[in-house]
Amino acid sequence: MRYFALLGSIILTILVTSDTSQAGTCKSTINKYDEDDIKNAIKDCNEIILNGITIPAGVTLNLDLNKGTKLTFQGKITWEFHEWNGPLLIISGSDLEIVGASGHELNANGVLWWDGKGEHGGKVKPVFFSLREVKNSVMRNINVKNTPYHAIWIEDSDGLAVQDVTVDNKDGDTKGGHNTDGFNVWRSNDISLEGITVSNQDDCIAIKSGTNILVTDADCSGGHGLSIGSVGGRDYNIVENVTVLNSKIVDSDNGVRIKTVYGATGAVTNVTYKNIQLESIHKFGIIIEGDYNIDTGGTTGVATDGVPIKHFILENVTGTVSNSGVNIYILVKNASDWEWSRVEVTGGGKTKKCEGIPEGSGISC
Ligand SMILES: *[C@@H]1O[C@H](CO)[C@@H](O)[C@H](O)[C@H]1NC(C)=O
Ligand SMILES: *[C@@H]1O[C@H](CO)[C@@H](O)[C@H](O)[C@H]1NC(C)=O
Ligand SMILES: *[C@@H]1O[C@H](CO)[C@@H](O)[C@H](O)[C@H]1NC(C)=O
Ligand SMILES: *[C@@H]1O[C@H](CO)[C@@H](O)[C@H](O)[C@H]1NC(C)=O
Repeated sequence: MRYFALLGSIILTILVTSDTSQAGTCKSTINKYDEDDIKNAIKDCNEIILNGITIPAGVTLNLDLNKGTKLTFQGKITWEFHEWNGPLLIISGSDLEIVGASGHELNANGVLWWDGKGEHGGKVKPVFFSLREVKNSVMRNINVKNTPYHAIWIEDSDGLAVQDVTVDNKDGDTKGGHNTDGFNVWRSNDISLEGITVSNQDDCIAIKSGTNILVTDADCSGGHGLSIGSVGGRDYNIVENVTVLNSKIVDSDNGVRIKTVYGATGAVTNVTYKNIQLESIHKFGIIIEGDYNIDTGGTTGVATDGVPIKHFILENVTGTVSNSGVNIYILVKNASDWEWSRVEVTGGGKTKKCEGIPEGSGISC
């Protein structure tokens, strides 16, 4: 017995010391929030289960994980109320597997912050969840509920597949949820979002910058649509190689949206939306505008040419807009190489003029 224990501890020592960024092979279950316990679990184990914990007010659950860690959320994970910027949860690391056990929920108790004002006043609201510097990883089967403000940020990440993740902020429809973006992507490369379900009061997905991004089977309702932008006026202003496939947007202010910032520089290149179904869109079925005012959150009514939209493909984008809305609105400058086919958006009773459509593309509003 003693011999085997000794051998075990030698093996463990070798495992721990041979690669300091690699956790040992053990499984640790955390049943109560304790910063030191969590730090030790991260340090020692390659498998971590967070089970039904409550994160104290004003604290970030900061999971800077060792390479190859499997993280499981189990039961109901909740956060206490505090007015601050957050985020309430950060995950970083490479070769990670982040999963939710059946029946789990990440419940941010957003209703405690909601005041109908979002980022424009009232209570200071934290970002919920940041996937920061995540590399070569997968996150799947995660259920997020009631975020105070933006739900999930993917930032400075490279090689991340997000599968079957739900952001359910539907309660915000009647309880003052605002600016509850589902997913924001910033400065990231090689990201896929597959089987995303979002019910909220702002963008379903907003790609603010990044390259080689695939969105498939998104199901968006209640919000502001599947958006790119706003692009421009930040530290990195490139969006390139984005494909959005087989997705549905219902009961939302917009369907397909691209916003670029007035007076800024950058580029939106090679964007495809294909097989997109719109239903009960309130304001704009398709809105492509180059006049966004990043300071006020409004628009200037005049597009500038510094963030050109090049090689923009819409294929099989169909559906309905309410009578009080506009089917298609385009206001851009310096755009080139647009190819639209089978774009059939109907029902909108209002029209806005379209400006800046590339010559010869045959697109009309
Ligand atoms: C455009 O992006 C897609 C991926 O979204 C890629 O497959 C395709 O090769 C790109 N086209 C060009 C011309 O770069
Ligand atoms: C976009 O896709 C094309 C074709 O796959 C590739 O050559 C190019 O490098 C990609 N752009 C970026 C910024 O990764
Ligand atoms: C067009 O897209 C819808 C989904 O929005 C899909 O059901 C349909 O099969 C697509 N049509 C073609 C011809 O690909
Ligand atoms: C228009 O876009 C091109 C790239 O497509 C860029 O080089 C140019 O600076 C932009 N502005 C004007 C005024 O052409």
